[in-house]
Amino acid sequence: MQTILEVLESRLHAALTTAGIEVPEGFPVKVVAAADLRHGDYQANTAMALAKRLKMNPRELAAKLVEAFEAEDVADLDIAGPGFINFTIKPEAWSRKAGELVGDARLGVSEVADPKTIVVDFSAPNVAKPMHVGHIRSTIIGDSLTRISRFLGHKVITDNHIGDWGTQFGMVIYGWKNLLDEPALEADPLQELLRIYRAVNALCKEDEAIKDLCRDELVKLQGGDTENFAIWQRCVEVSKVGLNKIYDRLDVNFDHWLGESYYNNELAPLVKALADEGLARESDGALCIFSGETLPPKQDPFKEKRDGEWSDLPMIVRKKDGGFNYATTDIATVDYRLDQWQADKIWYVVDARQGLHFRQLFDVAERRGCSAELEHVSFGTILGKDGKPLKTRDGDLPQLADVLDDAIKASRAVLDEKSNDLSEVEKEELAKVVGIGSVKFTELSHNRASDYIFDLEKMVALQGDTAPYLQYSSVRVSSIFRKLEEEVELDAEGVKVTEEGEINLVRTLSKFGEVLPTVLDDLKPNILSAYLLDLAKAFHSFFEACPVLKSEGDVRKTRLVLCAVTGRILKQGLGLLGIQVPERM
Ligand code: ARG
Repeated sequence: MQTILEVLESRLHAALTTAGIEVPEGFPVKVVAAADLRHGDYQANTAMALAKRLKMNPRELAAKLVEAFEAEDVADLDIAGPGFINFTIKPEAWSRKAGELVGDARLGVSEVADPKTIVVDFSAPNVAKPMHVGHIRSTIIGDSLTRISRFLGHKVITDNHIGDWGTQFGMVIYGWKNLLDEPALEADPLQELLRIYRAVNALCKEDEAIKDLCRDELVKLQGGDTENFAIWQRCVEVSKVGLNKIYDRLDVNFDHWLGESYYNNELAPLVKALADEGLARESDGALCIFSGETLPPKQDPFKEKRDGEWSDLPMIVRKKDGGFNYATTDIATVDYRLDQWQADKIWYVVDARQGLHFRQLFDVAERRGCSAELEHVSFGTILGKDGKPLKTRDGDLPQLADVLDDAIKASRAVLDEKSNDLSEVEKEELAKVVGIGSVKFTELSHNRASDYIFDLEKMVALQGDTAPYLQYSSVRVSSIFRKLEEEVELDAEGVKVTEEGEINLVRTLSKFGEVLPTVLDDLKPNILSAYLLDLAKAFHSFFEACPVLKSEGDVRKTRLVLCAVTGRILKQGLGLLGIQVPERM
């Protein structure tokens, strides 16, 4: 189904041809949703932009276009200011749209014409280290981008590149041998591994000798010692069990869990090849790739830092001691994803602080002939109410599981005040759906590039730009259909919007198919979140101004159709953010 925007754009193209105006190659003929509805529903600045290029009078060109435009039953056109063309969609076109939407399983969202294979690398916590709130951003953003891309028709492969190999295992193995509490490990593996890790970390700070012992354990592990290897394996296994519990709560899934260790055997040959290809060279005993060397200054995005981190801080692919790095593994991982999965794009959903690493990685990949599009989907920090990075009372990084528990508790308190007619069991279930939805929506309603303040009370509130507000809107729609006594055929027959509230609602509904694809322009799910809030607002205004169950005939039918499409888009849209909608609240 074409969106209204697409209809207008294609007709604008046609009008240019009819008017005999030659459009320069690559010139964008664009229509956008109007920022101010007083000027119409859509707007095009084509006449102005084109007139400049063709040295014509913009208003005259606009007049020619309006004259040639086959508006028919779609829109009224007028020219404003220096040559804007404004489109006001006719009520009959909106009515048709409502009828189309109710009959469309995809709710007006087309699949992309050119589907890509996209690898999404997200979550990726480190084994035996805390999965903290920084990982929450990655997990939630990555999951939502995955859902949206799949819905738009791309082939998406999700890979949890866990940090299951690294220097932390020296401490963990030492702790495992000396401090492990088996029952505690059974009960809560992540917590117990974390306890060991922290305890040994503290011991190391007090006692150099213990630090050495940890280093010995690490060397043994890397040398293939059977006992240490078995301990490492169990660590990874129990961690996966613990992580999966959290992913289940979050309803997040991965196609693969190819962690860092998966690439261990590839690293030596890879590093040799890098040296042979002349990409890596020795410096201070380490084998390094100097990225800045190959970028001509004009194209160097780190120009101002050329003498700082970008060119002087090389990517180290083999350390002085012969060990390989996070970076080395990531180069091997790119190779694997290109060879095995034929990735067209790889998205790394990782903290902005790893920006340099990814700049270097992408630069190396490009120099090695990688034509896939690699993107660092970076994000900022979650802050406490004091504006500093979020910490627990003890000064630790908050654990993801605790954050979820707190959110569920907070939403339970809100629900206790509100939903009196629900049973204890229902309330408990509902608190989970609302609490976890709140954490996700808070994350996904912020621009990922910015930091945000974690405010439990605000995020579980029923009013405001929150998940509960959207979930409640959906529940309101469901309750209309529960109260409905007759059978209604939800189709286009007799649908006719006339009142402002109806028109405003269908205008918003029809934008779903226009807005959703734009999420992938900059990989920003907050665009979808903002849309859903607009939709809920349009629905509530409609619902106040236009009685549904008290109306009759075609008016009733029309309003029920609008409600049904609203309910379905809210559910679909929230689903694409990984958020569930309850039946009652
Ligand atoms: N384990 C890393 C961390 O916690 C994130 C890994 C991201 N993915 C990657 N391919 N580097 O910081």
